[in-house]
Amino acid sequence: MSKNILVAVAWPYASGSRHLGHIGGAYLPADIFARYNRMIGNNVIMVSGSDVHGTPITVRADNEGVEPIEIVNKYHSEFLDYWKKLNIQWDNYTTTMTDNHKDVSQEMFLKIKENGYIEKNKSIQAYDAKENKFLPDRYVEGECPKCNYQEARGDQCDSCGITLDPEELINPKSKISGNNAEFKETEHYFLKLSKLNDKLGNWLNSRQGWRPHVINFSKSFVEEGLQDRAITRDLDWGIDIPENELGEGKKIYVWFEAVIGYLSASKEWAINNGTPDAWKDFWLDEKAESYYFVGKDNVPFHAIIWPAMLLAYGDLNLPTNVPANQYILIKGEKASASRGVGKTLNDYLEEWNPDSLRYSLASILPEQNDSEISEDEMIRRNNEELVAAWGNLVQRVFSQYIKNFDTLDFEFELEEVDKKLMEEAEACFDYTGSLIEKVELKASLQSIMAYVNKINAYLNQTEPWKVIKEDKKRATAILYTAITCIDASATMFTPFMPTSSEKVLQAIQKDTDNNWSLNKIKKGAQIENIGHLFKKID
Ligand code: MF3
Ligand code: ZN
Repeated sequence: MSKNILVAVAWPYASGSRHLGHIGGAYLPADIFARYNRMIGNNVIMVSGSDVHGTPITVRADNEGVEPIEIVNKYHSEFLDYWKKLNIQWDNYTTTMTDNHKDVSQEMFLKIKENGYIEKNKSIQAYDAKENKFLPDRYVEGECPKCNYQEARGDQCDSCGITLDPEELINPKSKISGNNAEFKETEHYFLKLSKLNDKLGNWLNSRQGWRPHVINFSKSFVEEGLQDRAITRDLDWGIDIPENELGEGKKIYVWFEAVIGYLSASKEWAINNGTPDAWKDFWLDEKAESYYFVGKDNVPFHAIIWPAMLLAYGDLNLPTNVPANQYILIKGEKASASRGVGKTLNDYLEEWNPDSLRYSLASILPEQNDSEISEDEMIRRNNEELVAAWGNLVQRVFSQYIKNFDTLDFEFELEEVDKKLMEEAEACFDYTGSLIEKVELKASLQSIMAYVNKINAYLNQTEPWKVIKEDKKRATAILYTAITCIDASATMFTPFMPTSSEKVLQAIQKDTDNNWSLNKIKKGAQIENIGHLFKKID
């Protein structure tokens, strides 16, 4: 039975170049998961887009003395280039600038309000007296009240992950002028999270198979009691508040509308596809599943706020899982373009082949803990694992075959060692598949590489290059086995390294092309010489 699966990926702010931490944190794992699910016959849509509103964009525009739209256009097109170079296979990658997104966001706002979960209220807002301006959250920085991190922002502490309101910061300062931030009364719409506390708690308690760091964080957040949160801001860059009773100069808060992007992008996908109702398969079908690939700092918005909005709206599916990743660290610091740690992605895309980059990153995914990545380690993974273990295996077996046979005549009997290696391939399909379904991608990749090492050990034991001199039949059996098992490995590597795996798979002529199981090689098959798959990096 094929399932409908929504793969929802965090919307990157179009405010700066991405780095390896972002790719390993969300885009690569989502792509691996989506590709696997398509391969096994599930009905998948993978959606996201550039997040164009919010203060990360306006801060940048102010700094550079340009309009926000210029910043957005620049980075949106840079992101499109990443996806192409990295082979990230979107069903829809859009932006929050579309009319469709505006309509869907405003409709959701109104319905949640109608349902009694959005109310007007007075609030205290940070204010820069010298600039005579209300300060949006990211224009305020100060000390985190929970962990005492000094550079916590008005919306969130990057160190401990809690979401914040600016007035909770200790010694809040305006980022515009450096002055102490003052607080002044203003009116806003609020999402009544306090009314959703119990429903949300029950829903979180019903979740299974979530990563401990995600579920524990979310549950304790709800146990502390949710506070109503302002979902409008004193800004002029953003989506208009529908039926606005607050007056000029206020917009919908970026976090309220950006998460709605998952729904609006699904609707846009359906329209683009010529099947405008098809989004319902992913949002209304009770058996559909949804996976939200986000970094650790996005957990509260995806495991609490977005589900709360969905509950308040009614009818739509809540997340099946939020397999958030922890941080990728570079020399002990969180990889971050804005903090200047690590090269930009563009640097890596110029120097590395995309599958090498995908492999090295996938092998250190920070699924349970923050994980250190160093360029030395990435190079080692490429040289020792991809080039030496996998690439050489393919090259060695293919060239033996091409050198010694026009085709395999297939008049042979398989011995126990051969059968065993094939049985192990079948077991590896089951095992790696079940790991990917649990979003344990790092472990699943390890298990494929462990299997590749078994093929290498098998060849060292059976020595076809010696056997071939006295017993062509036996050598045929060995090469047949090795090629079948290489084909199996390439199949399993496909979600991780689509380009090089396709190349291997296409070089082998087959009778069956199974999606996630052992293929039968064609009698009399010819093998194409594909040369070296990967290059050593110095
Ligand atoms: N733009 C946010 C960030 O980069 C992520 C938004 S995810 C969304 O942290 F779902 F809200 F769009
Ligand atoms: Zn903190």
